[in-house]
Amino acid sequence: MSSPVSDALLDELVDVARTIALESGAMIRSGRPDDVEVAGTKSSAQDVVTAMDLAVEAHLRARLAELRPDDAILGEEGGSSEGTSGVTWVVDPIDGTVNYLYGLPSYSVSVAAVVGPPDPAVWTVVAACVHAPADGRTFVAALGRGATLDGVPIRVRNATSLLDSLVGTGFGYRVERRVAQARVVAEVIPLVRDIRRIGSAALDLCTVASGGLDLYYERGLSPWDLAAGQLVATEAGALVTGLNGAPPGTEMTVAGPPDRHAELVAILSRLRADTDE
Ligand code: IPD
Repeated sequence: MSSPVSDALLDELVDVARTIALESGAMIRSGRPDDVEVAGTKSSAQDVVTAMDLAVEAHLRARLAELRPDDAILGEEGGSSEGTSGVTWVVDPIDGTVNYLYGLPSYSVSVAAVVGPPDPAVWTVVAACVHAPADGRTFVAALGRGATLDGVPIRVRNATSLLDSLVGTGFGYRVERRVAQARVVAEVIPLVRDIRRIGSAALDLCTVASGGLDLYYERGLSPWDLAAGQLVATEAGALVTGLNGAPPGTEMTVAGPPDRHAELVAILSRLRADTDE
């Protein structure tokens, strides 16, 4: 498949993604108060936003306006703004806000550049950076060029069976969804090595990419949770899909190396894990 962007544009997009993700990480590290307060809530009272989420997204938008003024932006906290270049930035200022609130280290800044229609089902993610400010890990990927962690190329781990696979997952913020997700995880856990709930979907996907998890699945992801980590995972050798031939997205996202991914997709399909039933 030929690349939808030139080499020079891809170089620039990767550079911008890394630059603004690292700047945001520095803001988060230096600005975290001892007692983080909730600034608002979203899908439920447990789905929180902090002042830092808002400040970092404002920073990301301001920097993109300087560096790539003709691009569109889709962000978790600020909605979408249109562009004319065909490139859209999909950003999550803090993916893992609940961990940030509690002072747990698994949160990340997630920055992706996508091309094509502004629809996650059809756009192509071309450049990505996921940066974890608490420990400094920086995942970078460019379409067709592979993925790195702190500059070193990464590949998925190849567990020999599902029973030997460590599986990441996550849970939504609404009660009805959690009831359905609890039913699914209860069926999955006897079939795998163990389950992890890291609390940042972008880091889950990057952790599959670097071999810290064998597989990951989650229902309910938003485009900004998914876009950057999806490219990091696929460039490291993972398949990232939904169920029944669907692309990854809000209904379901499953990531892992092809053989184990196929096994997990079959189980999740049987469990109708892409529904809230
Ligand atoms: C959340 C995290 C979490 C996942 C939730 C997401 P946020 O993102 O990625 O791991 O389980 O579905 O909403 O709200 O912290 O940006």
